[in-house]
Amino acid sequence: MRVWKMLKDSYGRIIDYARISLTDKCNMRCRYCMPEEGIRTRSHEELLKFEEIYLLLEIFKELGIRKFRFTGGEPFIRRNAMDFFENLNIGEFYITTNLSSKNLDIARLNNLNLGGLNVSLDTLNPEKYKWLTRGWDLEPVIKNLRNLRVKNVKLNAVVIKDFNEDEINPLIDFANEIGATMRFIEKMDFLKDNLKRAPVDKIRKNLIDKNFISEKEITPKSSPAVYHQQISGKGKVGFILPVSKSFCATCNRIRVTFDGRIKLCLFAEKSVNLRDMLRDGKGKDEIKKILLQAVLAKSRAPKIESQTETMSAIGG
Ligand code: 5AD
Ligand code: SF4
Repeated sequence: MRVWKMLKDSYGRIIDYARISLTDKCNMRCRYCMPEEGIRTRSHEELLKFEEIYLLLEIFKELGIRKFRFTGGEPFIRRNAMDFFENLNIGEFYITTNLSSKNLDIARLNNLNLGGLNVSLDTLNPEKYKWLTRGWDLEPVIKNLRNLRVKNVKLNAVVIKDFNEDEINPLIDFANEIGATMRFIEKMDFLKDNLKRAPVDKIRKNLIDKNFISEKEITPKSSPAVYHQQISGKGKVGFILPVSKSFCATCNRIRVTFDGRIKLCLFAEKSVNLRDMLRDGKGKDEIKKILLQAVLAKSRAPKIESQTETMSAIGG
């Protein structure tokens, strides 16, 4: 594939990773992510159509984007999401999911050309899971996780004070058992949810002090996480610390919202609307030029408090 010109922001960061949201809806209502009443329903017309996404992917590839992750809300609740994934022509790609969507076909999921799969799993306690997700069962998620035959599975837990702080080791054990990598995420306060952020960096240091994980930090490119090897030789444990340890300096990503807007940063206002450009009949080269210009506005180190939208609307 001939690269037209790389996307590069005004701080010299090369953008080669795009996160594309298929929907802002989610079956769940996790307390740190969604307001209880859910979110305003959108008309079908507002959503990017699959054909429009395929076209955007071509444009992105020609602008040197190498990694694609599909998110939501929950991507699998969008009708025909599996068909969409099966018809992708971008090589390996990534998905973030809660793995709880009712009709999720794990056999088909296992056959996708996945480079990796991220699954939200905050607790192993069914009552706590039900409380946090506002009514969902843990059991089908665990069953789906056990049936996964996908490489590079990561389990993401947002750590909440007095809620799941006591589950650090059980979660790591479970991840080890299914051959996944456990990651602990510092909670960002997007909502008035009354959930307190747990000190994830302190938890990390504790695990090092206890000789459970090695001191050496592993920081892969295109990941906001820092990893540590387990001393037992079992695998890595990851930590994502958006609040206490900003990873903006090496950010290489942009987001496309379900309605086709570019979000240059989790904490940025939405910028250009690609959907409207496509529907206005703008050509690929014209859209590329607009994108090259738009990424220049990517901020260097935004203020987290500036976020006014829910995670589900942004795509995590
Ligand atoms: N803080 C940190 N991470 C969050 N996510 C959603 N809301 C928040 C928040 N307030 C992340 C979680 C979840 C994924 C879908 O988005 O990792 O698993
Ligand atoms: Fe929970 Fe993820 Fe759905 Fe948000 S998008 S409500 S975190 S499952």
